[in-house]
Amino acid sequence: MAVIPVAIAGAPYDVRIETGLLERAGEHCRPFLRKDRVAIVTDENVAASWRQKVEASFSAVGVASDWLILPAGEGTKSWEQLARVVDWLLAQEVERKDNIIALGGGVIGDLTGFAASMVKRGCGFIQIPTTLLAQVDSSVGGKTAINTAAGKNLVGAFHQPALVLADPLALDTLPLRDTRAGYAEVIKYGLIDDAPFFEWCEANGAKLLAGDSSARETAIAKSVAAKARIVAADEKETAGIRALLNLGHTFGHALEAETGFSDRLLHGEGVGLGMVLAARFSARQGLMSGQDAARIGAHIGGIGLPASIKALGLDCNGRRLAGHMLHDKKMDAGTLPFLLMRGIGETFLAKDVDLNEVAAFLDDEMTR
Ligand code: GLY
Repeated sequence: MAVIPVAIAGAPYDVRIETGLLERAGEHCRPFLRKDRVAIVTDENVAASWRQKVEASFSAVGVASDWLILPAGEGTKSWEQLARVVDWLLAQEVERKDNIIALGGGVIGDLTGFAASMVKRGCGFIQIPTTLLAQVDSSVGGKTAINTAAGKNLVGAFHQPALVLADPLALDTLPLRDTRAGYAEVIKYGLIDDAPFFEWCEANGAKLLAGDSSARETAIAKSVAAKARIVAADEKETAGIRALLNLGHTFGHALEAETGFSDRLLHGEGVGLGMVLAARFSARQGLMSGQDAARIGAHIGGIGLPASIKALGLDCNGRRLAGHMLHDKKMDAGTLPFLLMRGIGETFLAKDVDLNEVAAFLDDEMTR
């Protein structure tokens, strides 16, 4: 089993990664539970695949589990479902020192973590992420949120979990498209500051997507270790370090907004294409070599993620896409920080990017 410590000052915890961990969830959580009952929040799909096994693992260590099973999908990250989770946790008489459990993908983790941050002014929680995206990104680092009419993830809190359990076997019950989208976040860690890991991705990405458990464990452990290092250095994203995790997200967010945050472009797919665009824009600005940018595009496209805007068939221009960026939550006093690259593994935060140049670049990309 890989155990990755996340050394957040005042709230350190471990991420444990192992194939088959879901069936041993009870045993791993037991030392974090003060009572012989635990509250578990999940969604319908995850419950159908895993409830029986997870429930049995808690029974085996003398813990009864109470389940709140929510509708699956992004729509669940809402005020309405947040109120439902909070009311349910209060009805379960959850106390501040208890740890509740979020079992699911990013939607369940973000929503349950946010509910935990407010119940009794903050109770504990354990993340058991069941999608690749949640395992390598959203379950680690304590960002929790819901979506509102004003946009995605605009209301939330930093609230760190007490433990994270990641089981690569959970990916077997998911559509390949979801795992492929989550894999974009794995590649991201190579591009941020670890060129050898990007090379590892080039050599092993296809194997991982085909279900190889050793490749999955390595990818999750390397990604979590990278994220742990970054969030320990800059938990609240104030020092320009955690912002590196947004590589590909500004271009990606604009494309997600244009496609209505729908199944037309999943978040991870937007991030993958966003990283290709960040690389190509960096090359156009003379910051990185065209060869490196082409290599990034070749890997992302090669494993089946969208790698060009044209493939999305959008009916808009670059100015409209750049306009979506103005509503990005990373806007800072009227300027939008961009993550650009000097090479593979050399991402940096650029604060002086001209949105007119971005719009012109995007116009050219639409026809490429
Ligand atoms: N997903 C970006 C972050 O956790 O900061």
